Amino acid sequence: MTEQAAAQKPFLYVVVCAAGIAADVSKLITAAQERDWEVGVIATPAAMNGFFDTAAVAALTGRPIRSAWRAPGEPRPFPPPDAVVVAPATFNTVNKWAAGVADTLALGTLCETAGLGVPIAVLPCVADALAAHPAYRDSLERLRGMGVRFGAPYAGGPGENDRRPEFGWGRALDLVGRG
Ligand SMILES: Cc1cc2nc3c(=O)[nH]c(=O)nc-3n(C[C@H](O)[C@H](O)[C@H](O)COP(=O)(O)O)c2cc1C
Repeated sequence: MTEQAAAQKPFLYVVVCAAGIAADVSKLITAAQERDWEVGVIATPAAMNGFFDTAAVAALTGRPIRSAWRAPGEPRPFPPPDAVVVAPATFNTVNKWAAGVADTLALGTLCETAGLGVPIAVLPCVADALAAHPAYRDSLERLRGMGVRFGAPYAGGPGENDRRPEFGWGRALDLVGRG
């Protein structure tokens, strides 16, 4: 693909948090590329610590994964987003985002893009015990009130037949309205 062709595609930020299911995030990236998105990945610092194959994901997107803030004066490495998908989203990141905390690049990006009116879809991966915490319920309500779109709850544990249910990666793309 030429640079010009790549530049014409809409740009999707995929924000990856430190949940076990992140090991499969390449499924989301491939599905997004099939729907003609250009993809850049922003991972939380915790997610960079062995939760997914960072080299394979960087190769798949053709761009370095972003996790740390750029230095002052450095150019922005990614174009502005046309949409953002947070998948998987952790209990920690959902609560901090809703509270307006911006102490990781991922959180700062989420706080800012919500304010810009960019479509954001979230696929939480949060165990039922954590999801029962009142702060989490308040966070979901607050983020929904900001226009953030959520996929179905996913607890990460084994379901029927002791099998882990499918994580609906493609649903995130439906929620940001392309394809
Ligand atoms: C193997 C492993 C799997 C984890 N899976 C989840 C998960 O599915 N959901 C979740 O909310 N936290 C999970 N955690 C805990 C998070 O990694 C932890 O809360 C971390 O601080 C989240 O950081 P982040 O939100 O900045 O990515 C897991 C931790 C480990 C070690």
